[in-house]
Amino acid sequence: MNTFFIKKSTGLAGRYRVPGDKSISHRSIMLGSIAEGVTEVSGLLEAEDVLATLATFESMGVNIERLGDGCLRIHGVGLHGLKAPSNDLYVGNSGTSMRLLVGLLAGQAFDATLTGDVSLSKRPMRRVLDPLVLMGAKVQSNENGFSPLKISGGRSLTAIDYVMPMGSAQVKSCLLLAGLYAAGTTRVTEPAVTRDHTERMLEGFGYVVEKTGNTISVTGGGTLTATKVDVPTDISSAAFMLVAALITSNSDITLEHVGINPTRTGIIDILKAMGADLTLENNRIIGGEEVADIRVKSSPLKGIHIPEKFVGLAIDEFPVIFVAAACAEGETVLTGAAELRVKESDRIQSMAEGLQAVGVDAQASDDGMIIQGGSIKGGIVESYDDHRIAMSFAVAGLRSEQGIQVNNCENVKTSFPSFMALAKKCGFNLTVR
Ligand code: S3P
Repeated sequence: MNTFFIKKSTGLAGRYRVPGDKSISHRSIMLGSIAEGVTEVSGLLEAEDVLATLATFESMGVNIERLGDGCLRIHGVGLHGLKAPSNDLYVGNSGTSMRLLVGLLAGQAFDATLTGDVSLSKRPMRRVLDPLVLMGAKVQSNENGFSPLKISGGRSLTAIDYVMPMGSAQVKSCLLLAGLYAAGTTRVTEPAVTRDHTERMLEGFGYVVEKTGNTISVTGGGTLTATKVDVPTDISSAAFMLVAALITSNSDITLEHVGINPTRTGIIDILKAMGADLTLENNRIIGGEEVADIRVKSSPLKGIHIPEKFVGLAIDEFPVIFVAAACAEGETVLTGAAELRVKESDRIQSMAEGLQAVGVDAQASDDGMIIQGGSIKGGIVESYDDHRIAMSFAVAGLRSEQGIQVNNCENVKTSFPSFMALAKKCGFNLTVR
């Protein structure tokens, strides 16, 4: 079990690159596998979650050459070329793998079972199973709506018009992937904008995707054509370094080549509204995704009421935004973010308990949090087996009076295996035992 010990730091400096974007990495493997031809991927995040997706496609007969340093050569088998796996498909901690794969598997000729770790086996799956059943899929969870998920092959899927009850890129993507196999045009309407990497990447693979307002449609029966995917670095990983530099005096760091797709940049808007000295430099488009270098300097922050329009655009960054709020002057209020309760842990509960344990006045509500900014005393917190909780409290330690111990940080491997090394290079006062 990894335990993090973090103490105050004297300042962070330098230029760094965080690893590849997790969402785009998953999708590059999925679409590359079902495309016609050879897809070359560079900048892939080689972390447990993404490697779980990779392993499932290998189990379904796809030849994926791992060339090292984030490069893959995927020998696509076409939409109907996947083979029945001989074992259950285990995706570890990865909600994205499970929810997107169940959509893809619903359209196959063979049966399959998806399983995950203890945390993933407690996350809601009815949100994807219910609409898939409406499309004619035969997909089953346990009686609580949790995995293992059993998918029966050989079903004819029919397109549906589906209005999603929650903002979720995973649900949207699941249905778009099932839609590739359905007769007719599948239309998915989202209540709020969520990350659009699936739509963009389908287009990159030559598949027609239509967007009208918040409705996204695909028509089944087309083909995907292999392409090159250059994965930008992950703004969700960069977020830890951004907040770390903001709350540590004498800091000035630049994070290079960060994906700034507008469906992911809520963190930038929120931190700027809190007073962050943060600038985007060298903006460019790489493979259909916008990328920039982000420079950030230590800044006095102030508490804000976070506009709900940013919730979907910063959904994975709230744990570390709460840390920024704990260091800000005044009150920060978040509402409209009940989805945080069904992530790798209940992130409202985990963060409220952790912040209280280190001396911060943080009050959880059903759909958000109220934090009185000020100082962080320090103490011992749990990661609740959630990578983003572990890394958020590592950041909080930089401003703590007495240091912070974070228990059970093994899970950082799921999204950011180089976090410890990179954090130390940046100037974190971090030891791991
Ligand atoms: C993801 C979508 C988000 C996010 C997750 C990755 C994706 O989940 O929290 O880390 O790659 O589609 P929801 O779509 O369930 O909000």
